[in-house]
Parts: sequence; structure tokens; C-alpha cells
Amino acid sequence: MIENRKEEHINIAETRNVTSEHNYWDDIRIIHRAVPEIDYNKIETDVNFLDSKFNYPFIISSMTGGTEKAKKINSNLARAAEEFKIGMGVGSMRAALVNRDTADTFSVINNYNIPAKFANIGAPQLIAQDKPALSDKDIEYIFNLIGAKYLIIHFNFLQEMVQPEGDKNAKGVLSRIKELAGSYPLIAKETGNGFSHDDAMDLKDAGVKAIDVGGLGGTSFAAIEYYRAQKINDKVKMHTGETFWNWGIPSPASIKYCSTGIPVIGSGGLRNGQDIAKSIMLGASMGAMARNFLNDADTSYEDLKSHMENIINDLKITMFLTGSKDVKSIKKAKYIILEPLLSWLKGD
Ligand SMILES: Cc1cc2nc3c(=O)[nH]c(=O)nc-3n(C[C@H](O)[C@H](O)[C@H](O)COP(=O)(O)O)c2cc1C
Repeated sequence: MIENRKEEHINIAETRNVTSEHNYWDDIRIIHRAVPEIDYNKIETDVNFLDSKFNYPFIISSMTGGTEKAKKINSNLARAAEEFKIGMGVGSMRAALVNRDTADTFSVINNYNIPAKFANIGAPQLIAQDKPALSDKDIEYIFNLIGAKYLIIHFNFLQEMVQPEGDKNAKGVLSRIKELAGSYPLIAKETGNGFSHDDAMDLKDAGVKAIDVGGLGGTSFAAIEYYRAQKINDKVKMHTGETFWNWGIPSPASIKYCSTGIPVIGSGGLRNGQDIAKSIMLGASMGAMARNFLNDADTSYEDLKSHMENIINDLKITMFLTGSKDVKSIKKAKYIILEPLLSWLKGD
């Protein structure tokens, strides 16, 4: 069941238009420096995040696992993470708990030397639904399976509302996170709808080490679930998917809302190196991308590699043309903000 669902998510994300209507990164316009006064060849792109060091300020966001197709995708993504020395997450590891035969579709990434691996589990699985909550042993198993450095708890309650088999209980998640924070470095991550300021404060109080905003502007899980519902002609879920297609807090606004003193990762709709720079300008430590890498990772390593090189090239050019000699300096670059993002930034 989970394996089918994961396969469907990938197929739909690869072939359908599943993005939200508006990409809010376009509402940020960077001020060009005609006189940058730095040497392009001396630009430094490395970044420290928590206790990790990456060569570039972006990570490969959690996407998949659980199927043979996912194994290939994870393997290619891991090879890129090793080559470019960046961090990488895998998709929800519940599949490996439900069916241990699928464990290698995640642990395949252990064949590569990655600076930091992010294990992944959903917030709904931390508490009892119509099935029991995951145990301490379950969490330990998935964390060790990939030799993870961090544990991502993903929040996807909108998706749960749209998918036919969705988990509907959210009560008790924070206290379970508080318990787990004593044993694991936790990162709270949304999956396309963003976190509010109140969410960020709650999560910080619960002990998470960082927040990955996963905001609105890129992949919409309401859209993905809409297409799944369409396949089985589930008119009720189709309606919900359509109604909530553009629900959420724009990624750049969520970065601002979540800037509460712990590191923030900017994600949701990033397409290129300019978007990575914009997320850092707004206060994130680095950016993250998911669907942007999906098709290439499923096609060939060579395609994925040249896509990553393009992104890095964009980033370095953006740094050069803003006079930013290193990642820290990007925060000082100037920009203007257009509507509708401008109004979002005044809120919360
Ligand atoms: C096919 C697919 C599967 C995903 N599965 C997961 C998952 O299992 N766990 C998770 O935390 N996020 C998952 N995500 C969400 C992404 O990590 C990311 O938060 C979201 O897609 C927004 O980023 P993007 O606009 O760069 O795609 C998935 C995304 C895609 C496209």
C-alpha cells in the first residue's frame, strides 16, 4: 500500500503540473552591483550548518524510498551529494518499518560518502492514529539504517486531509518531539505549506535544532493527491485537493516567521541558484530543493550532475553580481520585495 502510494507520488510529480499557482521567489528582486569589487574566482560557497560543513549552501530535500524506482533515485542523489559535498535527506522511512525488505532502497545511500544524511519520518506517525505510534526502537532503526546525522520530522497535515488513507490526529506531536529531542538532533520540516511564527516558537520550545520551512510556492501535495484521487474517481478528495492547491505560507515569508534564533532552511519552490541566494538574504542558513532534482535523478546521473552544476553556477554569479565574497556576505545583499509577498512579510 505505502509502496504503491510512493510510486504514484513520484510518477505524478514527474509528469503532472503539481506546482502552486504562484512562485513567491519571483517577488524578490535582487539589486545588481555593477561594481562588485570582488574576484569571481575567489568566491567561497562553503557553509556551516549546525555541526556540519557543506561545500554549497543547499541540500537535497527528502523525497523517496520504498520502491525500486526510489532506490535508483536515491542512489543518484547520494552520488551527487558525495560529489558536491552537500547534505541529503531521504523520503519518509515508514516504508522500511512496514516492510523491512525495502530497507535497501534507503540504505543504498550508505554507498556514498555524504557530509550529513537526514533520516525522515512524518509527525502523524509519532502519535497513535488508527494504528499505534512508532516506538523508540522504530525511530532508532530508521536513524541507524542510513547512518543519519539528523532526524527530520516532516509535517504534512494538509496532505493527510486530502489523501484517502490520511491520518487525522495531530494531538500530542509536540510532547513526543520533546521526548525525542533528548536523543536525536531534530529538524522540523513542512512539505509545501510552510510554518507560521507560532509553529516555530512551539517547535523551538519542544527542542528542535532547526526548521526547514517547506513553504508554498513549489510542489503542492494537495495537487499530487488531487491527481491520485482523480485516478480512482474520488470526487470528495478531488474537491479538497483543488480547494487547497494553493494553501499555505509562502516560503520566503515562512523564513521570516521562523527566524527565532535557531537555524532555518529555506525550501519550497526553489528552482535555481538565485533562489538559494534569496533564501539566504531573507535569513535562512541555506536552501533546499526536492522536485527540482526528481526527473534528472530518475533519468541519469549525468543529467543530475549538470543540473547541479547549473545551480551552483547561478549561485556564484548571483554572489558575484551582489559583491558577496562568501555565503555570510549574501545576507548583506540588497533586494526589493513586490506584491503579493510584500504583504505576507508584514503579517504574522
Ligand atoms: C515525489 C515527492 C515525494 C516527497 N516525499 C517526502 C517525504 O517522504 N518526506 C518529506 O519530508 N518530504 C517529502 N516531499 C516534500 C519535499 O521534501 C519538499 O518539502 C516539497 O516538495 C517542497 O519542495 P520543492 O518545491 O522543492 O519540491 C516530497 C516531495 C516530492 C516531490
